[in-house]
Amino acid sequence: MNQGFETLAIHAGQEADPHTGAVVPPIYAVSTYKQDGVGGLRAGYEYSRSANPTRTALEEALAAVEGGVRGLAFASGLAAEDTLLRTVCKPGDHVVIPDDAYGGTYRLFSRVLQEWGVSFDPVPLGDLDAVRAAVRPETKAVWVETPTNPLLNVADIAALADVAHDGGAVLVVDNTFASPYLQQPLSLGADAVVHSTTKYVGGHSDVVGGALVTRSADLGERLAYHQNAMGAVAGPFDSWLTLRGLKTLGVRMDRHCDNAERVVDLLLSHPKVVQVLYPGLPEHPGHEVAAKQMRRFGGMVSFRVEGGEEAAVEICNRAKLFTLGESLGGVESLIEHPGRMTHASAAGSPLEVPADLVRLSVGIETVDDLLADLSEALG
Ligand SMILES: Cc1ncc(COP(=O)(O)O)c(C=O)c1O
Repeated sequence: MNQGFETLAIHAGQEADPHTGAVVPPIYAVSTYKQDGVGGLRAGYEYSRSANPTRTALEEALAAVEGGVRGLAFASGLAAEDTLLRTVCKPGDHVVIPDDAYGGTYRLFSRVLQEWGVSFDPVPLGDLDAVRAAVRPETKAVWVETPTNPLLNVADIAALADVAHDGGAVLVVDNTFASPYLQQPLSLGADAVVHSTTKYVGGHSDVVGGALVTRSADLGERLAYHQNAMGAVAGPFDSWLTLRGLKTLGVRMDRHCDNAERVVDLLLSHPKVVQVLYPGLPEHPGHEVAAKQMRRFGGMVSFRVEGGEEAAVEICNRAKLFTLGESLGGVESLIEHPGRMTHASAAGSPLEVPADLVRLSVGIETVDDLLADLSEALG
């Protein structure tokens, strides 16, 4: 039976505990497991780096909500990215990356993997010919983030999957901003999905984590091998918190989207705002693609202001209910200046962000309170 998103989020991998009937998977705070004779593993568990029942529950739930066959949970989003890249690439290989992406992802490519001999080219992913031209025989992956952090650009996942596959590369989609509730890249042809589960999946700003989900069992197996061999796994308590967050992802995302739409309306009518970046706007260059591949347009909103960097920073400092902070995707609203905060590591690179940009992670508080706070901050 094909079950709905919320049913999977609440039940997949989460059968009642066979020993006690506990309806929530317990936190298995354990490193090692008694064996029934040498090599006789009970239920497949031997050591918690290789597998842990709380992590297994999360991994099965993640695979189910992304419509994939294998899910793997990591200590952070970047740990998941690193594991994926060092599974599919070796020194001498090449990756096509977006010219707009999370600064930490860019730093992983430019400051870490490049040193190990994996090269990359940033390309505007909206230009399919440019992507095609950038794919070469050594290209092992095309990396997609959609919508992007922080400019909310949209890339056509199905079209890019064709380009990547024609070139013999895998298509990887960072689905952090959309979450699996709004967008399912594997169903559009992606080979692997990456998440910072720190964000919408966890949803409560109380845990750092990452995930990989694959469309094929083969890639899933290779990644699982590297997850164990490299060791950046999610611990049992972190897995439990993330799983608790995942259960309410659908209802939270709907409220994030409702509130973001109201915030966008306010920004559009404000004289100090020169541009609103939100894929739900018909004038957004990626609107049509977003409407095709996303259920709704998400809770992230960026905008540019009159008065340049100083004005943008001042707005961030004046906001009260919108808390000044990095990260995103939690129930509470956050505001930040990407140029000086989340994307400082992209300064001077092709991924540098405009200085007059403000990014909002619109939370699920009472929307009138959010609008009042933002009006006050904008002045
Ligand atoms: C789109 C995106 N991908 C990946 C990451 C990295 O995840 P983490 O901070 O959990 O390592 C982030 C973090 O902000 C992000 O925004």
